[in-house]
Amino acid sequence: MRKGQDFLKKVFPFDIDITAVRFGFASFINVLYTRLFNIASPKAPPLLTWITTFDCNAYCKFCATHKVKHSCQESVPYEKLIKTAHEIGKAGTFVVGFSGGEVLMCHYLFDVIKVLHSYGVKTYIVTNGLLLREKADEILQSKVELVVVSIDSSTAEEHDNFRGFPGLYEILRDGIQYIKSKRENSVPLIKATTILNKKNIPKINVILDDLKAFTDTQSLQPIVTGYHENSPHSKAEEGITSFMFQPEDRPQLQHYINELIKNHPDFNSYYFRQIPTYYFDRERLLEIQCWSPFFRMMIMPNGDVVHCLANPKYPPIGNIKDSTIMEIWNSREMFRQREEIRLHKNNCICWTQDASFNQLIHNIPLFNRIPVFKKHK
Ligand SMILES: C[S@@+](CC[C@H](N)C(=O)[O-])C[C@H]1O[C@@H](n2cnc3c(N)ncnc32)[C@H](O)[C@@H]1O
Ligand code: SF4
Repeated sequence: MRKGQDFLKKVFPFDIDITAVRFGFASFINVLYTRLFNIASPKAPPLLTWITTFDCNAYCKFCATHKVKHSCQESVPYEKLIKTAHEIGKAGTFVVGFSGGEVLMCHYLFDVIKVLHSYGVKTYIVTNGLLLREKADEILQSKVELVVVSIDSSTAEEHDNFRGFPGLYEILRDGIQYIKSKRENSVPLIKATTILNKKNIPKINVILDDLKAFTDTQSLQPIVTGYHENSPHSKAEEGITSFMFQPEDRPQLQHYINELIKNHPDFNSYYFRQIPTYYFDRERLLEIQCWSPFFRMMIMPNGDVVHCLANPKYPPIGNIKDSTIMEIWNSREMFRQREEIRLHKNNCICWTQDASFNQLIHNIPLFNRIPVFKKHK
């Protein structure tokens, strides 16, 4: 239980307060309606990811955002975006995370955050940090609870090389320092997140120690490829082989994961421990059930709403230009996708942090005993 809480803190490092209790209750109701009976739920999805734009000011070698941008153009009128933020707030969603592309390039970001905060929704943004200093005052004023900054190395040279932008490391450090010097009551919290890959794994402990010196909390996710073509994680493995672990790297990867857990015990959770299995023995992980359509939805820059960006079998379930958030959450297409997933016929597994609630729930003992939630071998 304690480990589960530690892991949850790594992904969503918000204060545990009355919101967490309400979050737990709403999630429970949702699970009853959507997972147990697959009928319309009176409760909103507790989690929403809002992908504001696929445009980006960096050119990371492992990211496909610039390619995705051509197939998914931003096309939602401003008034509709604001209306959607009101719907989300009224419906009772707890956490909205904003990502991209580069979220700080989005022109309406702070306007929708303001609306969401007026309903008590918690928010976070995921950024490469390039505009952090420039937008720092707006970030501080917005009272966004959490700023997640992607930092993949402890050396400026390596980080900038991975991210295709000379000077990025120094710029993001400057932005973080400024925000930390001006913020009140530690808001926003600054979380660093690192993409674990073949190039940086030998230094992962040094990287985390270094990040500890100037960020509040640190996490990581393994490099992934081959997600749905609408995802920034859709790069083909062949294009980035120098970042990818090959079968002969397994002992080395296992060694560094062991070292990581020894030196940073807060990484001792199923999600991190099973990273080698994810790369080299993925079939074994197919027993993990997917909870995505029962907990969250994602809004795309063109207004499409999906619950999954990994498996191409799951197309958009609606679009905010045509339907409300609750209509989409309780739509026929959502029921169809939920049905397949609740019968565990999805036959897929993903390992990015945004869906790591799957790994967390997989290890809750109670869920293994309830027949309808039981793990399929
Ligand atoms: C697509 S980015 C968008 C947000 C922002 N532009 C950034 O880089 O932080 C969201 C997260 O995915 C990570 N990411 C990008 N490509 C990845 C990949 N192939 N595997 C795993 N994580 C990846 C980024 O480092 C970032 O933490
Ligand atoms: S990982 Fe983030 S910063 Fe890098 S190209 Fe993709 S969206 Fe841009």
